[in-house]
Amino acid sequence: MKNLHLLLPLITLIIIAAATVDSSSSSPTVCIIGSGIAGSSVAHFLRTYSTSASTITTIKIFERHNIIGGRTAAVTLSNETFEAGASILHPKNYHALNYTKYLNLSIRNPPSSESDSSFGIWNGRDFTFKTLSINSNFSFLQRIVSLANEVLIFFRYGLSLFRMNSFVDSTVNYFLRYYEGFESRPVFASVEDMLRWSGLYNLTRRTLYEELIDAHLSRRLIEELVTVVTRINYGQSVSISGLAGAVSLAGCGSGLWSVEGGNRQMAAGLISHSDVELHLNEEVESVSFIKQTYHLNTTKGKSYQCGITVVATPLDEVKIQFHPGISIPERKLQHTYTTFVRGVINPGYFGLGSVSEVPQLVGTVENPDVPFSSISVLKQHKEDDMSYKVFSRKPLDDALLDRIFSVRNETVKIDWGAYPHYHAPEVFAPFILDGHHLYYVNAFENAASTIETSAVAAENIARLILSRLNGQEPVDPVNLKSFGDNASDVHADL
Ligand SMILES: Cc1cc2nc3c(=O)[nH]c(=O)nc-3n(C[C@H](O)[C@H](O)[C@H](O)COP(=O)(O)OP(=O)(O)OC[C@H]3O[C@@H](n4cnc5c(N)ncnc54)[C@H](O)[C@@H]3O)c2cc1C
Ligand SMILES: *[C@@H]1O[C@H](CO)[C@@H](O)[C@H](O)[C@H]1NC(C)=O
Ligand SMILES: *[C@@H]1O[C@H](CO)[C@@H](O)[C@H](O)[C@H]1NC(C)=O
Ligand SMILES: *[C@@H]1O[C@H](CO)[C@@H](O)[C@H](O)[C@H]1NC(C)=O
Ligand SMILES: *[C@@H]1O[C@H](CO)[C@@H](O)[C@H](O)[C@H]1NC(C)=O
Ligand SMILES: *[C@@H]1O[C@H](CO)[C@@H](O)[C@H](O)[C@H]1NC(C)=O
Ligand SMILES: *[C@@H]1O[C@H](CO)[C@@H](O)[C@H](O)[C@H]1NC(C)=O
Ligand SMILES: *[C@@H]1O[C@H](CO)[C@@H](O)[C@H](O)[C@H]1NC(C)=O
Ligand SMILES: *[C@@H]1O[C@H](CO)[C@@H](O)[C@H](O)[C@H]1NC(C)=O
Repeated sequence: MKNLHLLLPLITLIIIAAATVDSSSSSPTVCIIGSGIAGSSVAHFLRTYSTSASTITTIKIFERHNIIGGRTAAVTLSNETFEAGASILHPKNYHALNYTKYLNLSIRNPPSSESDSSFGIWNGRDFTFKTLSINSNFSFLQRIVSLANEVLIFFRYGLSLFRMNSFVDSTVNYFLRYYEGFESRPVFASVEDMLRWSGLYNLTRRTLYEELIDAHLSRRLIEELVTVVTRINYGQSVSISGLAGAVSLAGCGSGLWSVEGGNRQMAAGLISHSDVELHLNEEVESVSFIKQTYHLNTTKGKSYQCGITVVATPLDEVKIQFHPGISIPERKLQHTYTTFVRGVINPGYFGLGSVSEVPQLVGTVENPDVPFSSISVLKQHKEDDMSYKVFSRKPLDDALLDRIFSVRNETVKIDWGAYPHYHAPEVFAPFILDGHHLYYVNAFENAASTIETSAVAAENIARLILSRLNGQEPVDPVNLKSFGDNASDVHADL
């Protein structure tokens, strides 16, 4: 780090150069591509953390769709809205909790307490496990049933359940380090550094299966309950990374919540409170770095000049051209087909006699013959009138849906490029794509993809931007190179 002081004047020069190109202000314009929770969080934290030494005047957000929120979205089914994408938050998702408080939104806990909603594991032929359920308003009966269910689960999986819990708890505890104050928490220039610092990096090197076998969980628990959970939350098997797996398991604990009226209100509220120039229906087609300024060309035929550009969307399936080109590791997205049905499930499909015998949450194990990952009741309107959500890895055609449902009054199908297809060991794209001021929040999605991980990554990116504007390079030799090694080039450009 001994040559750091030599770099500072250069960085400052670059910033001045960037700023002068932007005639509207004396500090760089920040352009953010994507209005999901990541893009909106970057804008929020840039505003919150800005000081007089690092003022950011203009923030522009570009969103290709006509609505804010990305993968937090609502779906309307027979005049009622449900979460179409991210639906649940963990009680320790502190950024999301803070957003909710800050924006005056209300917290909604799942409508039906776990105790009265039934659960079953379907293997394609029968239910290998099924909880008891009763249809009663007497709370003491519900309590007995839920106790009985705990006993049933304990009989099937035994002490492995406690080992699973402690695996999840310890992962959550490592993650909590990302809420520490600035004194103890550095700014991270790469995903690897960020994960190593908290102690989570090792969990991205091995599969969930390997981690859980080492933690002495029974194969039965892994192949049944754990598999059910990873299929519901990431549409994938237990061969995802240990970290994505732990996050996914944390998402089936108790105390889960969502935002009353829809999770997308977080992104919308953050944007409306962060003095952002919002460009809806405007897709960024190219990002060209010319004379220390990013030129963003959009589908509206316009070109915007920005001193700093933040990519807040996965780059795996979008066609943004970068000049000069960037290089990131190849990553496949897992597509999750979400099918919403208003109607009635067909008990015959499951070899059952009545609708009430079909569990309200049907989970599944890895079996290529099972065409869906899960089916859950979102709302019971009447005995024979329900709203369901079905997850699957492939689209469900109408013939199949007509076998699973006996009545189908309305069907809505959504194809999400949902989250990375996880594997181990994971490789990560850089946070800084070009060594200058092109940032990539969604590099962190290879660790785990959730609302909260997006917010945590975005918070770090906001700090990274501000600290680099102030000439404080984070301690990462790889990223220093681009400024240092070719000092002569930089001079030439100026
Ligand atoms: C079905 C499903 C269920 C999920 N369940 C949960 C859950 O229960 N809990 C949880 O915490 N997480 C869940 N997730 C994950 C969570 O939704 C994501 O991790 C999170 O919303 C990602 O936010 P983001 O802002 O990084 O990306 P996105 O929300 O995808 O935002 C990116 C935005 O960029 C826009 N965009 C893309 N390209 C361009 C361009 N060229 N120009 C302009 N705009 C562009 C897109 O339109 C989009 O609005 C789920 C995801 C899915 C799909
Ligand atoms: C839809 O909902 C709105 C508001 O809740 C209500 O006013 C309207 O009557 C409903 N329409 C139908 C067809 O149910
Ligand atoms: C949430 O907000 C409170 C009060 O504003 C603050 O003290 C706390 O640090 C915030 N937490 C996070 C995770 O930002
Ligand atoms: C939240 O609500 C309080 C009281 O209802 C109000 O004073 C405050 O301005 C609201 N804040 C936001 C961000 O809307
Ligand atoms: C439970 O209570 C609600 C209203 O309190 C009532 O509408 C419903 O019929 C009751 N269900 C049963 C099974 O008793
Ligand atoms: C990660 O793995 C390395 C090498 O196996 C080990 O030395 C280190 O203690 C592990 N870190 C954590 C947090 O478990
Ligand atoms: C972007 O738009 C400008 C102005 O219209 C144009 O000169 C330039 O060639 C475009 N860049 C790309 C990469 O298309
Ligand atoms: C479905 O639609 C039919 C005909 O429109 C109606 O009679 C029936 O009540 C509806 N059922 C449900 C479950 O909505
Ligand atoms: C930096 O640029 C100079 C002149 O263009 C070149 O000679 C030198 O090899 C470059 N250094 C590195 C480390 O790329």
